[in-house]
Formats: sequence, C-alpha cells, structure tokens
Amino acid sequence: MSLDDIKSFSKENMAFDPTGHDFLHAQRVAKLAQKIYTEDFKKDETDIGLYVVKAASYLHDTIDEKVTADKKNRLREVRIILSHENIATPAREDILDIIQHMSYSDNIEHHYQLSNEGKCVQDADRLDALGAIGIARAFAYGGHAGQEIYDPKISVKEIKTHDDYRHHKSTTINHFYEKLLKLASSMNTRTGKQEASRRTKYMRDFLSEFQMETGVKDET
Ligand code: ADP
Ligand code: NI
Repeated sequence: MSLDDIKSFSKENMAFDPTGHDFLHAQRVAKLAQKIYTEDFKKDETDIGLYVVKAASYLHDTIDEKVTADKKNRLREVRIILSHENIATPAREDILDIIQHMSYSDNIEHHYQLSNEGKCVQDADRLDALGAIGIARAFAYGGHAGQEIYDPKISVKEIKTHDDYRHHKSTTINHFYEKLLKLASSMNTRTGKQEASRRTKYMRDFLSEFQMETGVKDET
C-alpha cells in the first residue's frame, strides 16, 4: 500500500498551478487530514482509513477544473492509478467518492454526506484556505483571476448558488467575507473546528489591519 504512484501523479499534475492549488497544497492537506483523522477517530498507522485519507488528499484537486481542462479524462486516469493499488474495492470507491464530492462549490446548493475519512480531508482542505497560508492563497488566486485586491464600490454578495460563487464579479478582500470567514462554522470535526477558529481569528486581525491602513470599512 505504498502511496508513491499516487504522490507522483499528484506532483506531475499539480506542479505548476499558480492559483494556490499546487502540489504543496496537496501535501499540506495530506498532513493536516492525517492529524485530524488520528486525533478525532483514534486511528493508528495500520488503519486502511488512513491510507484513504492520504490518497484522497493527494488526489483531491487533480480533477478540479482549475487544474485540468479535461476533468473526465483526468478522472479516468485517477481510476486507472487506483486500480493498480493493492486495496479493497470499498476503499477505492471511497477515495473516488471523496474527491468528487468534497469541494466547497459542490456543497453550496446541497450537502454531500462524506465518510469519516472524507470529512477529515474536507476539513483539511478548508483549513488550508484559512490562516496565513489561506491569505496568501486567496491573493494568489485573485491575481491569477485578474481580480482586484479590493474596491470600495463592489459590495459583498451573499453566496446562495454555485453560479453566485463562480460567476459574480468580486474582489479578493470581499472573498474573505463571502466565503473564507464562514468556513469555520462548516467544519466537520472537533480538531478541524478548533484549528479553523484559531486561523479565522488571525484572518480577522489581518482584515482589521487592512481596514486601518486602507480606510476601507470592515463589512462584517
Ligand atoms: P473548492 O475547490 O473547494 O470548490 P475553490 O477552489 O473555489 O474551492 O477555492 C479554493 C481556494 O481558492 C479558496 O479557498 C481561496 O483561497 C481561493 N479562491 C477561490 N475563489 C476565490 C476568489 N474569488 N478570490 C480569491 N480567492 C479565491
Ligand atoms: Ni484543495
């Protein structure tokens, strides 16, 4: 049950992503998700669930439309990689289910019920959108998307649909209010909630400092 092929596949396909969805993101998610899984579900190194957590973490963004122009084909490649792994079918199916249903955007209009392993990977992915790294990733994404840092004329929008999230004109500072500050209340696990609250506080401090320096009013 070596993860070498899965890690190589992730590295190959996420190496040069400039939107904050690079291989280091996958590595951070894998590390955080393992920590959450062992702490919240009291699992040890021999547990197959731990393998599912790691594999899903490394693979979760390889099928994201921001990373691949051909999601269907990429998913086919992931299935092939997994078919060569020496694991039971339910574990393989769970990895595929997690990576296809864990994203923030897919869960705006309905809430997918994930396995315990999936809940840990989803929490880890959300934690990587928070704190100092979350701030850095948001501005990297915004720059790549051609979005402004902030604009007092563009107001914060309440995100109710997938379309609102993907297609409305926003700024990176607005994205904090539209999504990032809300993530802490959507965490699945105890460890995830605790760390999300710590990281969110750090972001609120950043926003206060930003507001002070720019004179732009905090919208919360
Ligand atoms: P998911 O893959 O879970 O649907 P996204 O890929 O939309 O979530 O978001 C992943 C990360 O990309 C966010 O947490 C944030 O850091 C960044 N991001 C996404 N949309 C924006 C945006 N409009 N402005 C700034 N950052 C964004
Ligand atoms: Ni991710």
